[in-house]
Amino acid sequence: MPNFVVINNKINPYNKKIFVDGDKSISIRWALLASQAIGKSKALNLPASEDISSTISCLKKLGIKVIKKNERCEIYGNGINGFKYKDNITIDAGNSGTCGRLILGLLVAAKKKVRLIGDESLSTRDFSRVTLPLRKFGARILPPNKQNLPISIIGSSFTKPINYIEKIGSAQCKSSVMLAALNAPGKTIIKAKKSRNHTELFFKNIKIPIKIKKIGAYDLIEIEGKKNFNSFDYNIPGDISSSAFFIVLTLMSKNSKLIIKNVNVNPTRIGCINILNKMRAGIKIRNKKNYKGEVLGDIYVKSKKKLKAINCPTNLNSSAIDEFLIIFLVASKATGVSSFKNISELNKKESPRLKIASKILNKIGIKTNLLSDSIKIYGNPNLKLSKKIIIKNFMKDHRVFMMSVIAALCVGGEWKIYDKNCVKTSFPSFFKIAKDLGAKII
Ligand code: S3P
Repeated sequence: MPNFVVINNKINPYNKKIFVDGDKSISIRWALLASQAIGKSKALNLPASEDISSTISCLKKLGIKVIKKNERCEIYGNGINGFKYKDNITIDAGNSGTCGRLILGLLVAAKKKVRLIGDESLSTRDFSRVTLPLRKFGARILPPNKQNLPISIIGSSFTKPINYIEKIGSAQCKSSVMLAALNAPGKTIIKAKKSRNHTELFFKNIKIPIKIKKIGAYDLIEIEGKKNFNSFDYNIPGDISSSAFFIVLTLMSKNSKLIIKNVNVNPTRIGCINILNKMRAGIKIRNKKNYKGEVLGDIYVKSKKKLKAINCPTNLNSSAIDEFLIIFLVASKATGVSSFKNISELNKKESPRLKIASKILNKIGIKTNLLSDSIKIYGNPNLKLSKKIIIKNFMKDHRVFMMSVIAALCVGGEWKIYDKNCVKTSFPSFFKIAKDLGAKII
């Protein structure tokens, strides 16, 4: 089977209702926290994505009992730091930065040595952003000066709480420290630049002692460690990051309408909707409800002939961090020059996304001005393609692949896009949904 897709046709108008796969950030946090709870926790609608399978495999290797049947999953926690495993085991986070960085947090008091590895892409990513604070809890992380995986961790029997300032706006760094704080007696205090707040909401919901104060662009988070908590169930809602691809497909196609049901629309995650609406996308969220502190809702989107360029406010960056690729595609068809600043973090994702996105836009005839932390995109509302485009060598980054498919389905041309299997990382139903909407993907 070739590992590429061919797309030679734009998508025809559609009017549909869909569900997307379960939220990846929520699923990983549920699994990790369930492993530290006392008793059996259950999840429904856990996605079949590889990042979640990696998380579950790591937990199983650490001696946690997990029973998974399709989208139902049960995790039997033994309390905080209740891992049971042989010395010198290796756990594999695969492609998942969230799994790798967060699980290290849980291991700051683990008695025996654990080696953490990842795939080619994860092994290029910076882990010093979490190993630096985790060492302060008392954990030993080896080799001492290594920034990338593989690394090994040996927890401390004398963990101590820390004070930590998170300046990047990274939910992974914040959450890794929050999970480590569970193992430290006393108060860990984190001053964190605002980013997705799922870990905080989980802590509140399962009654882990946490206090949060807002100070401008930062949150001051105080966690009382060493407090066991009971098992908890979760019904995983749809993922806004996966929804974004079909939101943009609908916006940029002709005469189409889409409803995406039961999506997590937590305000710290919907930067893409806020940005696209500033570009006059007119996306609506209806039937909002509260679920364990998260906000769920249905997303309504229609095709839009006229979209306007944006000078994107940097305070929206963190809440749209995984959606910039697909937002750039919208900017390429908007009227005017769009500008996105302070986004060097994009080059630290599964691939150097800012550089790769710029190259893809250039390939389809869109002018860009690329710097190390910003991009200007010269939109062309009349963009139509008839030439051949080949997309390859993007480190199997699932979001680069899906952005390319959406581009092919709405600007035309003859596309060959490699590494189709990488959708399984975050969005295994991607092709099924695209085909149900009428996409011709060979
Ligand atoms: C995530 C946080 C973000 C995001 C990633 C998932 C999370 O990473 O890019 O896909 O679940 O905490 P950073 O925290 O590194 O920005």
